Formats: sequence, C-alpha cells, structure tokens
Amino acid sequence: MSVATPAPPAPNRSAANRLLLDVRGIRKRYGSTVALAGVDLAVEPGTIVGLLGPNGAGKTSLVSIVAGLRRPDAGTVCIGGVDVVRDPERAQRLVGLAPQDTGVYLTITVRDNLRFFAGLAGLRRRELQRRVDGTAAALGLADLLGRRASDLSGGERRRLHTAIALVHRPRLVLLDEPTTGADVRTRGEILALVRSLAEDGSAIVYSTHYLHEIEELQAEVAFIDCGRIVARGGLDDLIAQHGASALELSFDGPVPAAARVEGSIVHSSSVRIPSPDPAGTAARLLPRLGADASTLRAVEVARPSLEAVFRSVTGRRYDERTSESLP
Ligand SMILES: Nc1ncnc2c1ncn2[C@@H]1O[C@H](COP(=O)(O)OP(=O)(O)O)[C@@H](O)[C@H]1O
Ligand SMILES: [Mg+2]
Repeated sequence: MSVATPAPPAPNRSAANRLLLDVRGIRKRYGSTVALAGVDLAVEPGTIVGLLGPNGAGKTSLVSIVAGLRRPDAGTVCIGGVDVVRDPERAQRLVGLAPQDTGVYLTITVRDNLRFFAGLAGLRRRELQRRVDGTAAALGLADLLGRRASDLSGGERRRLHTAIALVHRPRLVLLDEPTTGADVRTRGEILALVRSLAEDGSAIVYSTHYLHEIEELQAEVAFIDCGRIVARGGLDDLIAQHGASALELSFDGPVPAAARVEGSIVHSSSVRIPSPDPAGTAARLLPRLGADASTLRAVEVARPSLEAVFRSVTGRRYDERTSESLP
C-alpha cells in the first residue's frame, strides 16, 4: 500500500486570489526524462515553503519554470494572479530568484552587481540606493560593497548571489539550494533573512536537500520526489501524521506475510509498522517470522522526524550526505 498524498482540491476563487504562487498540473520532460509529472503547489503570502527532495527530484526544474526561465510542457503558474507564460514581464517583476548555480558579475564590484540587478527590476535613484544598502547590510556585505566580486570568498559570493535575488524586495522569493557549500555564517544570515522576509509578507520557496534546515526554519513542507509532490503541509502536522515512531524491517525479497501486521505500510521489500514502542514490537514480531527471518536485511527504529515522513511516503531512506534517496 502506498500513502501518496492525494492532490489537494482546487482552491475556491477567493482562496486562489490570496495565493502569491499558484502552480497547477505542471509537467516537464527533457527527452525521455520526466522531470515533473504533474505538480500542484499553492503558497500564501508570509509563508516559507521548504521544497525538499533528493538530487534529481525536480526542484530546479520547478523553480526555473516558476521564475519563467523554462517553459512547462503542460500546466499553469500564476504569481500574484499573473500568468507566467502569458505575461512574463509582469510576473517576473514580482519574483526574485537565486538560481542553484551562482551568477554574479565577477569583474565589477559588489555594489555595482547590486545596482545593476536592482536597476533591471525597475528601481531608481534613492530607492535603489536604499535597497542596495539595506540588502547588503542584511547579508553582511556592507563592508564589501567596493570589492570586486572576483575577490570574494565562496561564502561571500553566495551571500551576494542571494542579495541580488532580494534587492528589489520581491513578493515571491525563490531560493534554489541557497546554502549548498555555504559557511556557517552565510548559512545563518540567509536563514535569518528568509524568516524576516516572510514576516514582511513575502512568500518564499526554499529548495534544499537538508531536512534540518526546514526544521530550523519551521517552514511548511513540500516534499518532492521523482517529479511529484509526495507530501505537503505544516511541519508538525506532517510529522504527526506520517513521522511517528515506527519499526522498519527490510528484506531481501518480498515482505513475508508474518510481517504484514495490521496498520503496517508495505513497500516492495520493506515494511513500516507504526508503534509507540518499536523495540517492544520488534521483540514480539521477529520470533514470528520463522524461516523467513533468513531474508531479513535490516531492523530499524524510526523516530518522529521529517526523515521518517519521507520514508513513510516513499518507502525509501533519505540520505542527505549524498542527497540521494537510498533503496
Ligand atoms: N537540461 C536538462 N536536460 C536533460 N535532463 C535534465 C535537464 N535538467 C534536469 N534534467 C533532469 O531532470 C530531472 C530533474 O532535475 P532537477 O530539476 O535539476 O532536479 P533537482 O534540482 O531536484 O536536483 C533529473 O533527472 C535531471 O537529470
Ligand atoms: Mg537542483
């Protein structure tokens, strides 16, 4: 039995009007690779959505389509009620994107990078100056404004890259793995800024493969896997719903009948048995396996966490060191 989350019902008109981001039925393939297999995602102002998923899940494809950089094969994206495909210029003024790969102009200064991108977003003169200074201060770049971008450290460059996405105070902020390769200070500053942007009413889509960042941000969760949103909701709700403690058994081959107890969730060669006392459950269950015990590969206790949510909905483990999901 799989516990994939059903697609949410289409929001009614007044709810849809409140959404800053309204993504429906997005599909995208590259040749024979299906990157997005029908994604719906609704984000309200003032919320942070952690777009969480292993490498290759489709995060960058989705973020790029929302930003208008790639065209979907099917589906619609509305930002503040503006359709990204039909009215890209208006939509793009509402969006700030920090792509996964850092893009800053290396031969000019930090100040000129920020001025250039603020100017592209339509800011002028004093307002532009104010935003450049304010954003630089928030990301610890105030003392580096006169430095050429080529002479920044990796962490400083990461901060400039993030500052460029935020300098025009976009209503929708898209950050694609903003802390990958970042030092501790940079990471802290980015997370703090994301929180303050949400408090000011922006909507933030924050893609990452680090589960703990979402726990730290207390963000809403959109788990993406193989091009589909497999779980969506508040962090605490999802953990309460799917992430409760459990006993997990993996087998070489199919799960034997004796391990398919009531309430268990079976995924091809593994079974998850929710239990407030997983060790006690193991002590009772394992002797009942009899000869089938020889096919047992692993016995594990899953504690309530986002990682347990991922396991529960996909049947696979989430390894963020390699950011790949393991069988
Ligand atoms: N330009 C591209 N051409 C071909 N395949 C691509 C391209 N971009 C992404 N893909 C594939 O689409 C899938 C989703 O990739 P991506 O959106 O980059 O995922 P993520 O950002 O979650 O790692 C992967 O299988 C990836 O190899
Ligand atoms: Mg990516």
